[in-house]
Amino acid sequence: MSNRFPESMDFSGYNAPSRIECEIFDLVIEGSLPAEIRGSWYQLAPDPQFPPMLGHDTYLSGDGMVRALRFDNGHVDFRQRYIQSERWKSERAARRSLYGLYRNPYTDDPSARGKSRAVYNTTPIYHGGRLLALKEDSHAMELDPVTLETRGEWDYEGRLRSQTMTAHTRLDPETGELLFFGYEASGLASRDVAFCVADRNGKLLREEWFQVPYCSQMHDFAATKEHVIFPVFPTTADLARIKAGGVHWVWEPSKPTFIGIMPREGRVEDMRWFRGPACMAYHLMNAHTEGSRVHLDFGYARVNPFPFIREASGIEARPEDLAGGLVRWTFNLAKPGEQWEESVLGPGGDMPRVADRDMLVDYDIGYYQTFDPAVGPPLIAGPVGAGFNTILRLELASGKVARLPMDPRSTVQEHVHIASRQPGHEGYLAFLVDRHDEHRTEMFVVEAAHLERGPIARIQIPLRLRVGVHGNWVPAEALA
Ligand SMILES: [Fe+2]
Repeated sequence: MSNRFPESMDFSGYNAPSRIECEIFDLVIEGSLPAEIRGSWYQLAPDPQFPPMLGHDTYLSGDGMVRALRFDNGHVDFRQRYIQSERWKSERAARRSLYGLYRNPYTDDPSARGKSRAVYNTTPIYHGGRLLALKEDSHAMELDPVTLETRGEWDYEGRLRSQTMTAHTRLDPETGELLFFGYEASGLASRDVAFCVADRNGKLLREEWFQVPYCSQMHDFAATKEHVIFPVFPTTADLARIKAGGVHWVWEPSKPTFIGIMPREGRVEDMRWFRGPACMAYHLMNAHTEGSRVHLDFGYARVNPFPFIREASGIEARPEDLAGGLVRWTFNLAKPGEQWEESVLGPGGDMPRVADRDMLVDYDIGYYQTFDPAVGPPLIAGPVGAGFNTILRLELASGKVARLPMDPRSTVQEHVHIASRQPGHEGYLAFLVDRHDEHRTEMFVVEAAHLERGPIARIQIPLRLRVGVHGNWVPAEALA
């Protein structure tokens, strides 16, 4: 019996499934790792156990693999474990895939009917004393923060009514509150969205539902101290198409982009909708409120960047059609109308991060990634195809951009920001670097203020770590 993975972009080369669960004690480190960096870096990656049941699928369907690098006194230990979802257990027992297309239960094997399809493969967060693995089409899965063992699905002690929880939550660094939402809250392709707030202990304080103009892939949202911002970009779902065995998402540029803004302490009935031309963004860098104006900063794309969504939509995009800039959209709540103002902050890119202390408020420094063709030809790494090869540091006020390009045979995975305890120190960025020729991975640690100088420490991981989706840093004192 053949059980080979397809030779497609999603399952071959650096994107080949790894399926490795392991521990490596005391990794080799080149350079000097500051002793003040103490805590755990967590990342989630899709890593399918078995080839897709229908012979093809997207990278994003893969079983959740959680990995951790634990930093302690200049040493780093590594651990990687599968998340033991109901889906993972069923497929393990059958020794094959039982679930069909990405987010389409109508394509599943009859033996999987009625079972959870959740894979928990997108973002690990630590909140309320729990390590949670998130993916936007299900509830969270709780994991042991040390052993990474699967503890069980987390639905806020049965209180969360939404069937889904976003993989992009927003933490208020001042109150410790976690703001999040769930789209398709009442089921596949529904227009229902739940806005939720949990207190610093992980107790669900609020859950309010509203409807969006059409069912959109709402991958991220934004918040300020005063407002919550919901983007509705035209990557759309349709229940009839899904029931007919079709794809979950298509790109529909004939539909406008909507942005909903509500007062954070108000109600969903207070939502004000703005409207503009079709565009796409998966990740929003930050937002803040200034008087009656709300500013939203992000890198946008002119069409959906995922090849499997463009193919399903019959769209052949040229690279120059994809790239947008890093922009600020400003919404004036004191004026009537549905429009916003746009200003360009920097070159285009994605995976934007700011320091945790800068979340929800006015700030000056953002870190993000881009593919720079001057560095080298594209290398396939991750679900979008070409991996990013350059990290950027942008000073918003001055527009100054610093760059750290990789070498031409390496790509970079999403970075995290690690705060420093030293006064006036900007902190550090840590990120995985994919060594394509050697099929192994390193973690670079750089001084955030001087990222163009390159790594101060390189942590050697003697494995190819399949490209993850998102990671987060949890300081040792938070874990304690
Ligand atoms: Fe994301």
